[in-house]
Amino acid sequence: MKAKSIPVILLIGKQGQVGWELHRTLMSLGLVVALGRKDLDLADAHQIRQVLGQIKPDVIVNAVAYTAVDKAESETALAMQINGVAPGILAEEAKKTGALLLHYSTDYVFDGTKNQPYIETDAPHPVNQYGHGKLAGEQAIQAVTCDYLILRTTWVYADRGQNFLRTVLRLAAEREELSIVADQIGAPTWARTIAEATAHIVRQAQGERQKGCFESGLYHLSSAGQTSWFGFAEKIIADARTAPGSQKLKVRLVHPITTAQYPLPASRPKNSLLANDALCARFGLIMPTWEHALALCMDTI
Ligand SMILES: NC(=O)c1ccc[n+]([C@@H]2O[C@H](COP(=O)([O-])OP(=O)(O)OC[C@H]3O[C@@H](n4cnc5c(N)ncnc54)[C@H](OP(=O)(O)O)[C@@H]3O)[C@@H](O)[C@H]2O)c1
Repeated sequence: MKAKSIPVILLIGKQGQVGWELHRTLMSLGLVVALGRKDLDLADAHQIRQVLGQIKPDVIVNAVAYTAVDKAESETALAMQINGVAPGILAEEAKKTGALLLHYSTDYVFDGTKNQPYIETDAPHPVNQYGHGKLAGEQAIQAVTCDYLILRTTWVYADRGQNFLRTVLRLAAEREELSIVADQIGAPTWARTIAEATAHIVRQAQGERQKGCFESGLYHLSSAGQTSWFGFAEKIIADARTAPGSQKLKVRLVHPITTAQYPLPASRPKNSLLANDALCARFGLIMPTWEHALALCMDTI
């Protein structure tokens, strides 16, 4: 690793749910150069190499992804370029300059047929194009063997961007009845929880790299506990009812439905649960319950 007094941290995807939170949590770790899509298009391999070559970061945090899961079924090549190919190019650039690459992946690399939370060594088997692309991205990074950490997360929400929390709040203000899928389980994970954990992980990883005892790896990172989309929606509405302005909620009833009753272009895993044990053991992190994190997020809205 280069001897520099202030490490340069390149954050890619500053406008995403996780990227926006990362901009704040990474600031105490070094000089953060934060880029959005207009500064760096990850679909453009040449531009990635050019920008990385100019910035020469000590740490690269890639919060970019093609996250439109259903659209990825038809825009497969673009989704693969951003999720599957670009991470490998970032890894090559990281290897050239000795940077640490921190990258995010997803529970959608699994098919969801396991009846326990997934652990890191479970065999991936994506059931949609988004999952195939994200798995290809993991494998591309691992093949390059730079210093890397891949964090698989799940059911991400925030007080900004497109996500289930904001959709439910909007629909609850517009409609008296909602129908929500109840046969997919997971752990809703606040983007801020991911960003705060990431800062802790990067700090520790940089310390390990300085001491020469760093090991690259892939870890699961999600809230503790579990629920269904239906359970998540009920809790969002319950929390929103106790908040100022709750009289604006029109919703009276939330109906549980099956996945089959709400067909979408992309298949989804029935079980999205990720076990955090390996992450907690290495980085000493204790993940909050999804209910606790949701309540704090609702306070910010
Ligand atoms: N969202 C989830 O539920 C979920 C679940 C599991 C894992 N993950 C993973 O967690 C990570 C963070 O996801 P997120 O929820 O924060 O995603 P997000 O809110 O959709 O943000 C993704 C960001 O990537 C940017 N982007 C897309 N294509 C780009 C391109 N070609 N060049 C540059 N930037 C581009 C988007 O820019 P624009 O703002 O311009 O569109 C957006 O800012 C991703 O790796 C994702 O796969 C997410």
